[in-house]
Amino acid sequence: MRRPLVRIAGLDLYATMFSWFKKSPTSASADGLLATKADQKGVKPQFHALVVREVRRETADSVSVSLEVPEGSTFRFVPGQYLTLRAQIGGADVRRSYSLCSSPLSGELRVAIKQVEGGLFSTWANTQLKAGDVLDVMPPMGNFVLETDPSKRRRYVGFAAGSGITPVLSILKTALEREPESEFLLFYGNRKTASILFKNELEDLKDRFMGRLEVHHVLSREDQGSDALFGRLDADRIRYFAEHIPTVTKADGYYLCGPEAMIHVASDVLKAAGVSSEAIHFELFTSAAPAKESAPKAKSAASGDAYVTVLLDGEETHFTQSSKEFVLDAALDAGADVPYACKGAVCCTCRAKVLEGNVEMAMNYSLTDDEVADGYVLTCQAMPRSERVVVSYDA
Ligand code: FES
Repeated sequence: MRRPLVRIAGLDLYATMFSWFKKSPTSASADGLLATKADQKGVKPQFHALVVREVRRETADSVSVSLEVPEGSTFRFVPGQYLTLRAQIGGADVRRSYSLCSSPLSGELRVAIKQVEGGLFSTWANTQLKAGDVLDVMPPMGNFVLETDPSKRRRYVGFAAGSGITPVLSILKTALEREPESEFLLFYGNRKTASILFKNELEDLKDRFMGRLEVHHVLSREDQGSDALFGRLDADRIRYFAEHIPTVTKADGYYLCGPEAMIHVASDVLKAAGVSSEAIHFELFTSAAPAKESAPKAKSAASGDAYVTVLLDGEETHFTQSSKEFVLDAALDAGADVPYACKGAVCCTCRAKVLEGNVEMAMNYSLTDDEVADGYVLTCQAMPRSERVVVSYDA
């Protein structure tokens, strides 16, 4: 049984946002919006109201959305990262995370949104969102990134399927522009030519980076005259590429984004061919938030309630929750305005550090091993495993 919330101090969100903007240094730079992960330390996962600059139709079922960049460094990003967007749709607070498709070097903040069947946010964005509208947007986040180095000559390989191209596009554009001697080899799976997201942009990039960008379109519903390119990006096809294109297994970094099955088979094939797991980076493409009732039951014998303290923006919220409930859900029920988006272990928006006590995560697709070792958890997946737990979203 949850005890009533005790809130130590109220939160004036607008005052917090305003003071944050004022404190941010200016972002004017030859590198546009380029950031490193280290630059982003201390950036709070708070929503900011950004104006939509443009909604551009990319394919029959997808748009890209460009946003006005506010003054300061808050929205600088590392290629491969995503934005969490929030809108009121039909009276409901709906949040989704979408990868940035622009290169930070361009100074543009642009995400791609593919309309998925039954998808509340993606349908709204594809049919109603327009220039001049205002969206709530969290600063860029995510660990599926490439930190480029102009002094390096590297080879990269990407495997993307469908809208999984989005972060890979940002990564490859930044790598090719910022590392003048690096090369990128991309395998991109779609159903047919008409459904290829950013097809024209990829063609333009091949011309611009002649000889350094190679793109292989793999289509499952359209025969391009080559057996190797007709079908899905499955284990047999990826193995074929690995065996017949020598550079596939000799890259410095691999970037995989798409459905979970594709990521697993690509990763398995690459490892079997001798690629080290440290070189393989992946991001699951998941668009919908798993329902709260789908939360797995706690496995541990721990039972009863836990007394939990959540720190956010220097304020404490205290509550008692069941050890079978996720900390994020309990904190939201207790009135804390804690950050989240997917609630499915994918986006990392709900990241917090355990300062006291123990928790157990049901799933984790987004925290790195180092972050876990440092005590960070996904609060949407974390269940208390001690009577007293303190987690901080400020750490
Ligand atoms: S809300 Fe996305 S990982 Fe927790």
